Amino acid sequence: MAQLPWANWNGTAMPLADVRVSVLDRGFLFGDGIYEVLRVYGGRPFLLSEHMARLRRSLNEIQIQSDVDRLEARMHATLRDSGIDGGMVYMQITRGEAPRTHRFPNPPATPNELIYVDAIAVDPYAAWRENGAKLLTVPDVRWRRCDIKSVNLLANCLAAQAAAEAGCQEALLVTADGTITEGSHTSIFAVQGGRILATPLGPQILPGITRGLVVKLAARAGIEIEERSAKLAELDSLDEMFLTGTTSEVLPVTQVDGRPIGNGRPGPVTAKLVATYGEYVRDWLAGRGE
Ligand code: PDD
Repeated sequence: MAQLPWANWNGTAMPLADVRVSVLDRGFLFGDGIYEVLRVYGGRPFLLSEHMARLRRSLNEIQIQSDVDRLEARMHATLRDSGIDGGMVYMQITRGEAPRTHRFPNPPATPNELIYVDAIAVDPYAAWRENGAKLLTVPDVRWRRCDIKSVNLLANCLAAQAAAEAGCQEALLVTADGTITEGSHTSIFAVQGGRILATPLGPQILPGITRGLVVKLAARAGIEIEERSAKLAELDSLDEMFLTGTTSEVLPVTQVDGRPIGNGRPGPVTAKLVATYGEYVRDWLAGRGE
């Protein structure tokens, strides 16, 4: 078994602890880079083509030239050498190292490409999956291109910290007009009258890969989905709320700002989706899934 987390840095395999990066890396100076996080089950990356498509899109949106097929091959090699079974993959590509100027370096710098994998032995969210997560509302002060999975995550970090200080597991980001967008690192759904409300895709949110799967699973289970954002003013009329993400999977939300959602217990629609998600992963692992 390799030393975990196990990394590939610009094509060289090594322990993550040995990776060194220049202070002139534009990711370090400007947050000028993008990333992806994938879940690994049974040693295999889950929803691989969806994550690679989003990675490609993020690179295109910020005009970084990196060979995604080569990155994917490196990711497979890193996973194989790591020997991990359950875990995660982190991939980050920055515009590279260059003298500090805001505009892109000319001639272009060579992108810095990091991949690392780590084990997730037990479900770190088991208690909240059972009892529900508590959220804290935080003003959504992010930029207007949240659809790009950029490493520029200051607003997300501040929101997550505010939530943690309030004893909550996640922040609920709310725009100035009271629209709920997403969490600091998760997608948000509400349930009202048996129907799921999903924040519409667009520049206000990251197109969550788990969100995409859950929308598909809900439709298959015959649950109606309305692509509209919930409003903060509607909180008391919601029956359920849940969040999704690569590492958090599907998690019920039972409290926002100390107020219960619905009856304050994880609800039946969320429970159904938690179960369906688990079955989908099991089928995929057994080679029965798509
Ligand atoms: N976060 N919204 C934001 C702002 C996110 O950062 C994430 C993922 C999601 C959920 O997307 P997905 O289902 O593709 O993981 C939604 C990752 C896991 C992270 O930053 O660690």
